[in-house]
Amino acid sequence: MKVDSLLDFKGHRVLITGAANGFGEAIARKFQAHGATLLLADIELERIQSLAAELGGVGYQFDQSDSVSVDRLCQAVGEVDILVNNAGILIAKPLLSMSVQDVQALVATDFVGVWQLMRGVGEGMVSRKKGVILSIGSQTAFCGGENRGIYASMKAAVSQLTRAAAVEWGPSGVRVVCLAPGRSLTRMTQTTAATTYKGDRGLERVPLGRWGATDEVANMTLFLCSDAASYVTGETLIADGGYVLG
Ligand SMILES: NC(=O)c1ccc[n+]([C@@H]2O[C@H](COP(=O)([O-])OP(=O)(O)OC[C@H]3O[C@@H](n4cnc5c(N)ncnc54)[C@H](O)[C@@H]3O)[C@@H](O)[C@H]2O)c1
Repeated sequence: MKVDSLLDFKGHRVLITGAANGFGEAIARKFQAHGATLLLADIELERIQSLAAELGGVGYQFDQSDSVSVDRLCQAVGEVDILVNNAGILIAKPLLSMSVQDVQALVATDFVGVWQLMRGVGEGMVSRKKGVILSIGSQTAFCGGENRGIYASMKAAVSQLTRAAAVEWGPSGVRVVCLAPGRSLTRMTQTTAATTYKGDRGLERVPLGRWGATDEVANMTLFLCSDAASYVTGETLIADGGYVLG
């Protein structure tokens, strides 16, 4: 069988969170190009609705840090074949400057919401005995990262949650995977660029010699969600140009 046919998502209902910008938007455009039915969710109402209209999908507003809102989204979308758990926030500060509110915001958005979405769509996948859940982790889960202590801890927790869900849901034919990108310039990193990208500090650690592109994250997402990766589960794939090799 040709690999191209394994990347055909016609008839697949794909829920992508955080789809209004950055990686999520690139992932949505890529799935659309490969025939998927798009369910796009984000906290930014106008932007998600206009993208959904442009790509021919359905747009939903939700707040991943609010458990009621996440439950409402899971109810609203109905059956999902593929979940791309992408929405997230970064609060970049030294550990000594983090407030309890900062930590609670990261825990709620980057971990509790991620788990709640997995649970919300995973139940249906387990009962239908098929589905793929991909969460966007981070290279920081593997190498720490200045000013990213709590964020990196949440991303490490997402990798571990991926393994746990893969073990529990594998017997039902549901694959659960994680993609850990390296740095890419998106709105998330642009806001911290002034302090963390100064003089491209860190780039000398990347064997491939450049930051990643959102399209590369979208390509890897499609691959991992496709039947080309049908024997992969519980894995976190690090796509960082080799940064963590240090
Ligand atoms: N950009 C990077 O270098 C990088 C590297 C590794 C991992 N990541 C991860 O990739 C994912 C996407 O990040 P990005 O770089 O595209 O950032 P981004 O800020 O461009 O996009 C994040 C999206 O999530 C949405 N969002 C934020 N909080 C939300 C909430 N409470 N409820 C619903 N939606 C919410 C935003 O509106 C936005 O559309 C995140 O999980 C991030 O941690 C990013």
